Amino acid sequence: MKIKILGSAAGGGFPQWNCNCPNCAGLRAGTIKAQARTQSSIAVSTNDQDWLLINASPDLLKQIRDNPELQPARKVRDTGIAAVLLTDAQIDHVTGLLMLREFARPWPLYTSAAVWEDISTGFPITSILSHYCGVEHHELSLTGQAITGLDFLHDVRITAVPLSSKAPPYSPNRDRPQLGDNIGLWIENLASEQCLFYAPGLGEPEEHVSHYMRRADVVLVDGTLWAEDEMIQLGLSAKKSSQMGHLALSGAGGMIELLDSLNHQGHVPRKVLVHINNSNPILREDSAERAVLTQHGIEVGYDGMEFEV
Ligand code: MLT
Ligand code: MN
Ligand code: ZN
Repeated sequence: MKIKILGSAAGGGFPQWNCNCPNCAGLRAGTIKAQARTQSSIAVSTNDQDWLLINASPDLLKQIRDNPELQPARKVRDTGIAAVLLTDAQIDHVTGLLMLREFARPWPLYTSAAVWEDISTGFPITSILSHYCGVEHHELSLTGQAITGLDFLHDVRITAVPLSSKAPPYSPNRDRPQLGDNIGLWIENLASEQCLFYAPGLGEPEEHVSHYMRRADVVLVDGTLWAEDEMIQLGLSAKKSSQMGHLALSGAGGMIELLDSLNHQGHVPRKVLVHINNSNPILREDSAERAVLTQHGIEVGYDGMEFEV
C-alpha cells in the first residue's frame, strides 16, 4: 500500500497569500532554508492507479499536476481518484471537492454524520455539487467498524477513530462538539500486516487514540503549531492552539511528549508531522525547533513524501 502526502501545510498553505511572518516573508525572499507546501491532503493506493483521496484541499488541482499518478489517462476523461474521504469539515480539507465537479458520476464520499451536516448546512458544498456531478454519501461508523465499499484498495482495512478537536468556525456546531467533528484513520494493510495512523487535526492526547498510535508502523499526525500561543506571539491571531483544536508540539502534555510515549517494548513507530502551519519554526530546516524534533526521532512531512506500508 502506498501513501502519498499531497499537501503537508495547514490552512493557508506555506507561504500564505497575505502573511509576512518570518517564515512566509523569508520563503518569498529566499532567505530561509525551507520549502513551500500546499494545504493538507494525502492519497492511498494499492495499485498506483486507483486512489483514495483523504481530504480535498483547495490546492488539489496543483497537487494533481504535481502527482501524475493521479491522472492515469486511460480514456478521454479520467482520474486516478476513485473516492474521497474527509477527516473533518475544515475549509482546507473540503474545498477541493468543488474542483472535482466535472466527474462523470456522483463522487463516493465518506464522512462522519457531523462532517456531512457541516458540508450540507454551514458550507453547503453537497447541495452545490448536486448541480454538477453530485455525491454518493457513505456515513462512517464511529464505533470501530471498518469502512466497507473501498474495493479498489486491495487487502486494506480503514477504521475511523473519533478525536477531540474542533468543528470549523463556520459550523453550526463550532461551540457544541459532536462526536465525529474530527476523526483519525487507522489504515491497515492486511497483506503486509503494517498499519498507519493518520490524524491531521488532533486536539488532545486521549487513551483510545494512543492505543492505535502505539500499534502503528507509521503515524502521520498534527504538527500545526510549535507553541500553544504561537499565533498570539507572532501577532497573527488571538487564538491559542487548543482553541483551534490542535495539540501544540512543545510543552508539557504536547505532541512531542505524546509521540515519545509511543515507544514501547522495542517497537518505535515512524513519526511524521503533517498539517503544519506556516508560522511554525520547524519549517526552517536549520531551526533549533527542527533540531529538537530530530533528537526525538520525529520527521517533518513534505509535499510528495511517500510511504510504503
Ligand atoms: C485548522 O485546521 O484549524 C484549519 O487549518 C484552519 C483553516 O482552514 O482556516
Ligand atoms: Mn486545517
Ligand atoms: Zn506566515
